[in-house]
Amino acid sequence: MIIFNKEKKQFHLSNNNMSYVMEIIENKYLVHVYNGKKIQEFCQQNVYPQNGRSSFSPNPKELESGKFSYDLWPQEYSASGAGDYRETAFNATYPDGTQATSLTYKSHKILAGKPELEGLPQVYVEDKDEASTLVVTLEDIYREIEVDLNYTIYHDRDVLARSAKVRNISKENMKLERILSANFDFPHMNYDVIQLPGTWAKEKQLKRSPLSHGIFKLDSKRGASSSAQQPFMALATSNTTDFSGEAHGFHFIYSGNFKIVTEVDIFEQTRVLLGINDYQFNWTLKPGECFQAPEMVYVYSDKGLNHMSQTFHSLYRERLVRGKFRDQERPILTNNWETTYFDFNEEKLLDLAENAKNLGVELFVLDDGWFGKRNDDTTSLGDWNVDTSKLPKGLKNLSVKIKEKGLKFGLWFEPEMISPVSDLFKKHPDWHLHINEFPSSLARNQYVLDFSRQEVRDYIFDKMTTILDEVPVDYIKWDFNRNLTEVASVGRLAENQQETTHRYYLGLYDFLEKLIARYPDILFENCSGGGGRFDPGMAYYMPQSWTSDNTDAVDRMKIQYGNSLVYPTIMTCAQLSDVPNHQLNRITDLETRALVAMSANFGVMLDLDKKTKAELEAVKPFIEWYKENRSTIQFGDFYRLMSPFDTNYASWLIVDKEQEIALLYFFQILSNVSHPHIRLQLTGLQENAFYEVDGQLISGEELMNYGLYMNGDLSGDFKGKVLTIRRK
Ligand code: DGJ
Repeated sequence: MIIFNKEKKQFHLSNNNMSYVMEIIENKYLVHVYNGKKIQEFCQQNVYPQNGRSSFSPNPKELESGKFSYDLWPQEYSASGAGDYRETAFNATYPDGTQATSLTYKSHKILAGKPELEGLPQVYVEDKDEASTLVVTLEDIYREIEVDLNYTIYHDRDVLARSAKVRNISKENMKLERILSANFDFPHMNYDVIQLPGTWAKEKQLKRSPLSHGIFKLDSKRGASSSAQQPFMALATSNTTDFSGEAHGFHFIYSGNFKIVTEVDIFEQTRVLLGINDYQFNWTLKPGECFQAPEMVYVYSDKGLNHMSQTFHSLYRERLVRGKFRDQERPILTNNWETTYFDFNEEKLLDLAENAKNLGVELFVLDDGWFGKRNDDTTSLGDWNVDTSKLPKGLKNLSVKIKEKGLKFGLWFEPEMISPVSDLFKKHPDWHLHINEFPSSLARNQYVLDFSRQEVRDYIFDKMTTILDEVPVDYIKWDFNRNLTEVASVGRLAENQQETTHRYYLGLYDFLEKLIARYPDILFENCSGGGGRFDPGMAYYMPQSWTSDNTDAVDRMKIQYGNSLVYPTIMTCAQLSDVPNHQLNRITDLETRALVAMSANFGVMLDLDKKTKAELEAVKPFIEWYKENRSTIQFGDFYRLMSPFDTNYASWLIVDKEQEIALLYFFQILSNVSHPHIRLQLTGLQENAFYEVDGQLISGEELMNYGLYMNGDLSGDFKGKVLTIRRK
C-alpha cells in the first residue's frame, strides 16, 4: 500500500510487516524518515531536529535560516557538490565542466503493480495486486535534469525494489559520473555489517563485523560481480541472530562492476548506497536521453537472518527467475568435466552416460572441449564447430544416442570469450576488449569478446543457434572464465569509452533475453569458474548457477552456508565428486559428500567408468533419497542452524511448505576427544503436531524448545547425517 498524505507531504509505503516513510520538507527536499517494522499510521511530521549543528554543514541559498542542509538530513537520493559531503548517489559533469547537483521534489505518481525496466534484469509481479509502485521525480532546475526514483513495495513480501533513472532535459550533453540505484539513510550506526567475500573456489565466505566510522566499501572492478564480492550487504543490529532481531538486506540485481558503500557520517548516522561502480564508468547523456540505473532489492526482517534469507529465497525463486523451469523440480545431472577434462571421445561419453543412467541420473552434460581443436585451455574459444576428431559423427548423433538412453542432453558454452589461438581471432583480431597499442592481458589463455558490439554478439548468436537448431539440447552451461581488463571497444568515440563495461552488460542481457526466448525448453545454468558471476542479474536469465568449482564437502559446507544468505537451494548447484578431491586433495566419506551436495540442486561428477559395481551401487541410494525429497529440498524453507564459520559443526534444516517433512542435516568437521554435546533446537515446525524422528513421536514444540542431541553417534572427521522428520 502506498499513501501520500497531502497535508503532511508524506509518503508511507507499507505492507503487513514493514513501513517505509519519506517526506517533502520546505516544499522541496525529499528526506527519508523511516524504514523498519510496520507502523499503522505515521503521525509525526518534519521532526528531524531543525538545527544547523554547525556552520560547516551548509544550507541551500534560499534557506539561509539553517532549516535544511544536505549534509545532515537523511535523504532519499543524494547528489554531489551542493553541500552533502557524504558519499552520494549521483554526480555529473555539466557542459560548463562543473559538478554540483541539487535535487528537489517535482512530482510523483502511484501505480498498481510494477513497471518493467527495459533491457535490465529485475524482480517482477504476475498480477498488479502483488505490489504498488511509487515514482518520485526530482529535478535540478539549474542543471535541467530530472531523476525518477522508483519504489516498488510487495504486498506479501518484505521487499522493496528500487531503481533510479535520470533524464537530460537540457539542450546540451552532460556526463554522468555516478548514478547509483539507491540511497538508504539510517539514523544511527549501531549495526554489524554482513557480507559475502571470497575468491575462486572459495566463494561467499560469510563475514560479520561491527560498523565503524568512515567509509566502508564492498565492490567489484572486475567487469563481473565476481567471486571476490557478492553485490550484497546486510546491516544487522548486534543482537540479531539467525532466529531473531532486525536485519536490512541489500542486493544489487546486476552482473558487472558494482559498489556498495556504507558511510558513518560526522553525526554517526549511516548511509548505504549501491549501484554501478563509478570505477571506469561515465556516460554521455545527450539532450532528451535517459539513463536507467539497474534495480536493487531491499529486504527487511524483524525475525532474524533466516527470515531475511527466506524472503530473498522466495522472491528469487518466484519473482526473479522466469520461464517454465521456475516451478519445476530440476533434473539430477552428471557432467564429464572432472572425469575426462578435455580427453574424451564418443565412446567414453556414452559409457559414462550409460553408467549415469543406471544410477538414476537424469541429464548428461558434455562440458568444455567438444569444439574447435580444444584439447586444453589454450585454444578454440569462439570456434563453435564440433571437433570431429573427438566426435566424428557429430553432436547431434551424440545427443540422440544419449536421449535414446532416457537421459536429457546438456552442452557447455563459453560464448563471451575468444582464444588468441582460434580461427575467429585470425578473422577478427579486433573483436575482443582491448586498447590499441597497449598489451592485452591474458587470463586462462583467453580474451573477452566485446559484447558491447552488436556485430560481435550477432556472430556468436548465429553460431550458437546454428548448433541449437540442429542438435537436441535440453540444458546449457554458460561459462565465463576470466574477468575484464583493458576495457575498450574498437570504433567507440574516446568520450564514450568509459561506457563500455555497462554497454557490455546491456549487450549480454540483450543476447540472453533473445536466446532464452528462442529456446524456452532449454534449462540454463550460469557458471563463471564456479560462482564468479552468481548474482541476481544472471539469475533473471538462468534459473540455476554452478556454485563453486570447489566440490570438497568441507569447503562446500561453508560456501553453501554463505550462499544461503541470499540464494535458494534450487538455484544453488552442487555435485557429488570423487576423492581425493580435485581441488583440495581431501578425502571425505561418500555419505558426507553426498549429503552436502544433496542440500541443494544436486548432481554427480564421478568417474563412473572407473567405479566397481559395488561402488556404483553405493551411490544409488543417495540418488533415490534425493528424488524422494527433491521437492522439499528445492522448494522448502531453508533454515541455517549451526555455522561452520563459527563452530566445528554445520547444520541446516529444510522444511516443506506444509510443515509435514523436515530434513535436518548435521555435520561434524573434526573429531574431538571429549566433545561438547550438541543439542539442536529445530524451527519452522507446527508446535502442536507430532513428528516421527527415528521411530519416535515427538511434538513440534518439544523439537523446537528442547531439541535433539545430534553428535553422540558421529565419530571421525568430516562426518554427516540427515534426519527425516515426518509429521504424523
Ligand atoms: C570452469 C567451470 O566452473 C568448470 O565446471 C568447467 O566447466 C570448466 N570451466 C571448463 O573449462
